[in-house]
Amino acid sequence: MTRADMDRVTQAFVTAATRAAEAGFDWLELHCAHGYLLSSFISPLTNRRDDTYGGSLENRLRYPLKVFAAVRAAWPGERPLSVRISAHDWVDGGVTPAEAVEIARAFKAAGADLIDVSSGQVSPLQKPTYGRMYQTPFADRIRQEAGIATMAVGAISEADHVNSIIAAGRADLCAVGRPHLANPAWTLAEAARIGYTPIAWPKQLVSGKSQMEALAQRAAQQAGAAK
Ligand SMILES: Cc1cc2nc3c(=O)[nH]c(=O)nc-3n(C[C@H](O)[C@H](O)[C@H](O)COP(=O)(O)O)c2cc1C
Repeated sequence: MTRADMDRVTQAFVTAATRAAEAGFDWLELHCAHGYLLSSFISPLTNRRDDTYGGSLENRLRYPLKVFAAVRAAWPGERPLSVRISAHDWVDGGVTPAEAVEIARAFKAAGADLIDVSSGQVSPLQKPTYGRMYQTPFADRIRQEAGIATMAVGAISEADHVNSIIAAGRADLCAVGRPHLANPAWTLAEAARIGYTPIAWPKQLVSGKSQMEALAQRAAQQAGAAK
């Protein structure tokens, strides 16, 4: 990527951010994870440059931070701007959770409101350790050590997982992906399961709400009685 390419792409990010603001989006995220362009600058596995944009972490962050600053300037100051990072490349010689703390600190200093903490998808050689809430320790570490709000994501599949992550101060938000693919009403079903009834249902579906809540309550009572 030449300097001219970099300027052109930075401008494209700015144009996209401006359009998003005009379209009324509440929150914008700059994608610096999963091997996409900005991620490919950050990871030493994909950044082979020998100019001031490659080598040290400071150099590898130079272009992503330039794009971030331009987007921050174009995005309304009162609306949140987060950054998604891969906190672990899961490959020797790649980004580690310790380096991810430094990456988070750099974006915090540049004005990021929150770090969305994912991992991997940078190298086909990755050997991730999958499991329930497997990326949450990285969100936790960044939150404690870099002192910035984080969003935990990855194999968080029950409302109780979310509540325990938030209550323990391991993250400020949780994102839930694939459970919504399996069940688009996942949020409504989980709310019923934990007895949270003030949640708004779409008008067309609202006849199903009280029944789902009653069934969930009965199941909880039966589970309690069985203990
Ligand atoms: C079909 C599919 C497409 C996805 N596309 C993207 C993507 O474009 N960008 C991204 O950051 N993450 C993407 N993800 C990853 C999710 O954002 C999320 O991090 C991942 O699914 C782990 O969370 P989950 O266990 O709740 O699904 C995708 C996931 C799935 C299943």
